[in-house]
Amino acid sequence: MKRVFLIVLDSVGIGEEPDAHLFGDRDCNTMKRISGSPFYRNENMRALGLANIDGQEYLTPVDRPLGAFARLQEKSMGKDTTIGHWEISGIISPSPLPTYPDGFPEEVISAFEQATGRKALCNKPYSGTEVIKDYGEEHMKTGDLIVYTSADSVFQIAAHEDVVPLEQLYEYCRIARKILTGKHAVGRVIARPFVGTNSSDFKRTANRHDFSVEPPKETMLDAIKDAGKTVYAVGKINDIFAGQGISEYVYTHGNTEGLQITLEALDKEFEGLCFVNLVDFDSQYGHRQDVDGYAKAFAEFDGWLPSFTEKMREDDVLMITADHGCDPGDSHTDHTREYIPFLIYGKNVIPGNHGTKTPFSVIAKTVTEYLGVPFDCEGEALPVFAENEAKPDAETLCLSAIDAMKNAYVPYSGYKVGAALLTKDGKIYQGCNIENAAYSPSVCAERTAVFKAVSEGNREFEGIAVTGGPDGKIEGAFPPCGVCRQVLAEFCSPEMPVYLIESASPLKFKELTLGALLPESFTPKNLGR
Ligand code: THU
Repeated sequence: MKRVFLIVLDSVGIGEEPDAHLFGDRDCNTMKRISGSPFYRNENMRALGLANIDGQEYLTPVDRPLGAFARLQEKSMGKDTTIGHWEISGIISPSPLPTYPDGFPEEVISAFEQATGRKALCNKPYSGTEVIKDYGEEHMKTGDLIVYTSADSVFQIAAHEDVVPLEQLYEYCRIARKILTGKHAVGRVIARPFVGTNSSDFKRTANRHDFSVEPPKETMLDAIKDAGKTVYAVGKINDIFAGQGISEYVYTHGNTEGLQITLEALDKEFEGLCFVNLVDFDSQYGHRQDVDGYAKAFAEFDGWLPSFTEKMREDDVLMITADHGCDPGDSHTDHTREYIPFLIYGKNVIPGNHGTKTPFSVIAKTVTEYLGVPFDCEGEALPVFAENEAKPDAETLCLSAIDAMKNAYVPYSGYKVGAALLTKDGKIYQGCNIENAAYSPSVCAERTAVFKAVSEGNREFEGIAVTGGPDGKIEGAFPPCGVCRQVLAEFCSPEMPVYLIESASPLKFKELTLGALLPESFTPKNLGR
């Protein structure tokens, strides 16, 4: 039963994108900023590969990350939650959702006034608490609605609960939602009810309700649901997708509850996607420019991770990402145009670095490929699933060789070597070097892989990747020894590619052939066989 747990750490970006200046952002890096706080902890995220992701040089990388990972660049021209989540799920937005720094245009307001039969007050960007202080009394006298916006793409309606009953306020929001389409398709229409007797004691109530814009086309959520699988939405995911493609949802009050519910989701019997948004990073700390608070929230997530990974089942895959940045220490309180991390962990996942990829919908492709659901969108799935790959490519083979080093038994040389041998039917045999106190019985990684394969009845090979270095540190190409070349020549053609890995992060390798490594070799042919 395949399950993907996709967790969005809302606003946890990992460095400015090349076009950040077009968004008013320069030198922003949410992760780097919080890493400077004394409350920052990242031990478990680092074990998965966080610090090995491109551009994270300010963190300390690990030698053998447990996860597969990449840095992802956004293609959509926006940096908000909705556009970020949509791109993660397969939709590229050529323009940002509309914002109204000068208030809504006449055509929108008059249509709204006509349809509701009430006048609109304010019509400006305003703080939510100030707006009821400044317009609340007039609203109570006249019954006019307080309409305001913010730096985000929102149309907000504030009304006193005694003047406009809740259900009626929600109905006005639905009316606004119908008017706000096309170029005025704002991200959210929000009902903002309040209570109190006068401007000194007006208070917003918990009856806020969001009416989100529907995704303009099919997302991976629809594809997964239509394939008969479950899409379980935790946190504000249900709002972000306006309920589209979601089979079950639960709202949360902050990160701590979100993490608890995600952990409990491991005990649910379902096949498909559990899609989680942890919003506190953004709403409580990013916008409020609270670096230490942000770092503490990240430390809480990092500390929670092992409780989740320990309980994961055989076919579970955990994916961790973000939707944009919100650097809490830069010059403004708004979101920041940043790369996002994409970390993937599970028994079926081949660990390794996939560099920098675009767009965010690489995630939709990777999720749907794992679940075996057809879904068309921009971007390529990361080739990280051992069993899904019909024929692993050179990159996968190299990552497998790097992974193979972890089992090297090298008490004498300290030199770890890993090999990954690809068979004709697409199987990979990993090998490591195994040393011996009597020294000479030691065996190399390449031969371990060859002998494993041959002893299991596989003699047809299509490629081998080899790597090694002191204590597993890759410091350049590791050439197979003469004996291993000779053993390979017994079973492999001179044209067979040999990949020598030059660096793990970013992954670099050179491709040679066995014939180039061992020309004029002595083979079975020389004995007439
Ligand atoms: N080694 C290999 O695993 N493959 C080679 O092709 C060359 C050498 C190992 C053997 C020994 O454990 C260590 O590297 C240092 O020589």
